[in-house]
Amino acid sequence: MKSIIKKIFPLALSLITLNVGATNQNNESLEQMIERGLNRATSQSLLLAKTLESQSGILPRTYEKGSVQTIHYDHWVSGFFPGVLWQLYENNGDKQLRRYAEMMTDRVEPAKKMTVTHDLGFMLYCSFGQGYRLTGNKHYLDVINEGTQSLLTRWNPKLGVIKSWESGGHWQYPVIIDNMLNLELLFWASRETNDSTFYNIAVNHARTTMKNHFRDDYSTYHVVNYDTITGNPICKVTHQGYADSSAWARGQAWALYGYTMCYRETGLPEFLEQAKHIERYIFTHPNLPEDLIPYWDFNAPEIPNEPRDASAATCIASALYELSTYVPEYKALYKEEADRILENLTAHYRAKPNGDNGFLLLHSTGSKPHNSEIDVPIVYADYYFLEALIRKNKLEKEQKL
Ligand code: GLY
Repeated sequence: MKSIIKKIFPLALSLITLNVGATNQNNESLEQMIERGLNRATSQSLLLAKTLESQSGILPRTYEKGSVQTIHYDHWVSGFFPGVLWQLYENNGDKQLRRYAEMMTDRVEPAKKMTVTHDLGFMLYCSFGQGYRLTGNKHYLDVINEGTQSLLTRWNPKLGVIKSWESGGHWQYPVIIDNMLNLELLFWASRETNDSTFYNIAVNHARTTMKNHFRDDYSTYHVVNYDTITGNPICKVTHQGYADSSAWARGQAWALYGYTMCYRETGLPEFLEQAKHIERYIFTHPNLPEDLIPYWDFNAPEIPNEPRDASAATCIASALYELSTYVPEYKALYKEEADRILENLTAHYRAKPNGDNGFLLLHSTGSKPHNSEIDVPIVYADYYFLEALIRKNKLEKEQKL
């Protein structure tokens, strides 16, 4: 009895505390909020694209100290701005958006040859993957295929995981929870090429990660460092979180998104169960703020005086919209949670029109322990914010996500 109450109570409480009304704090319907969000995103993103147009090879990362901080193709976030532009182009068909999407996508191309990182999924799927889906450009397909081959060089069948970072120092074979997102590229490649090798590798990686990255409460470690001889974890630690034993907020978001996506791609119930458990961890956590935008780490020591991470919130919201389509009994709950996140981001976390040089959301945290990108706009928060808005839009219209 006690365990049933423990299970049901948080769900009931979540539903009671959620804003289930048809309008948000600005007295507008969710449909109006989405339209406003997408229109604002279009003008902001065009502003950012124009700023960078003449700077060959340059892509945006964040906005700090009064200027856009930029990167080249080889940074893990390089694919997100092209992805923002492609998503907006899909939404309204604007030719200018397409031109900039193509321009920014081209800037990421050299990443296809990189074999020193696992981040090729983020880099190539968000840019070339979206571009290929929307335009059918065969060159984009060639780029993705080459990038997939580069990613596979990091797969070790004995360990059953793709290596995230290079070995060296105290890393023998480090795998981070973020790596789950790179699997989307492999599932996609498997479908495109009819080659199940990619599919099998992705499923294996997701299973090994499920076994070794999660604690009993379904929170996740950030990094698992494997022994290449025994195949066992040497240590489980953090890199961007507060402590080895803490729950770094974006790590929990990557985990939720990753297993939801793995269920979509495989239909394997074990992945769906994992995603459901991760959702419960996040939404029953006593340190999740009332507005559902997490602090940068669920165990950060100075909560409530700690920076938030809007990027974790956007990734969680986008994942929840998808998860809501797979779990009829919790559909309403997951949608309400995601709606509430979007409402709060829209009302309190958005950059002003023409502000922050075209970024969309304020208050993300890249890496607090490294004193890097604290409480600033970050391009991947914008990417998943848009994805969530567009998913919400499709769900409202009963379209497939
Ligand atoms: N993938 C690195 C991060 O989430 O900051």
